[in-house]
Amino acid sequence: MIFETHAHYDDKAFDEDREELLRTMPEEGIGTIVNISSNLESIEKTIALAKKYPFVYAAVGIHPSDSGELTEESFAWMKEQCGHEKVVAVGEIGLDYYWKEPEAAVQKKWFERQLLLAQEMNLPVIIHSREAAKDTLDMMKALHAEKSGGVIHCYSYTKEMAAEFLKLDYFFGIGGVVTFQNAKKLKEAVAYLPMDKIVLETDSPYLAPVPNRGKRNCSKNLVYVAQEIAQIKGISYEEVVETTRRNAMRLYGIEEAR
Ligand code: NI
Repeated sequence: MIFETHAHYDDKAFDEDREELLRTMPEEGIGTIVNISSNLESIEKTIALAKKYPFVYAAVGIHPSDSGELTEESFAWMKEQCGHEKVVAVGEIGLDYYWKEPEAAVQKKWFERQLLLAQEMNLPVIIHSREAAKDTLDMMKALHAEKSGGVIHCYSYTKEMAAEFLKLDYFFGIGGVVTFQNAKKLKEAVAYLPMDKIVLETDSPYLAPVPNRGKRNCSKNLVYVAQEIAQIKGISYEEVVETTRRNAMRLYGIEEAR
């Protein structure tokens, strides 16, 4: 079964049919889902989903674009949430220079704190990095991000940059963008990456793959992502699903996953 490593089912885009959609995931071949929080409000919703569904796990963290809302008090609360038994990662955290708010110094401050939090809690990190490759890599090196390990979510840089993140032994989250006609750079990076470093992700409700591009995304669309990776790698669809499932279990330290 497919292991979905990155989705946001707490998003309001799922308010109408969240229950039904999640309930039918296993019968549609989605064995495990990690729901990723991005701000303080979504942490509570994410943990509630993980409590409700045995196959849903949670990641706790604040997205760089929302990092302006963090205070020492809320950071301490967030740390407490990391202790919940179904929390498997700190994320998503990182740097996003596409959006100018909050300023880079604020983003960096909370990226650093959350990287160190993951090390303290013995959890891997989920890194969001957009138009910030150099700063992301420099901070990861300086703060020894290899200690926690983790995944570069929605990988969107070159294969040369991929080589740098590989040195830190990180995984690479590959999603719907790989199916886009114009995603030449990403297809090249996927061809370059070792198969044991790739995990499947949707970033639902965003980034739906072809043939559903532009619509609301959900984990069931991972079939198209796995097919595209199989084609790029010249291996079977089944091998992509099975290898990425085992990679995701290693990434998140989950021993049993359907
Ligand atoms: Ni995300």
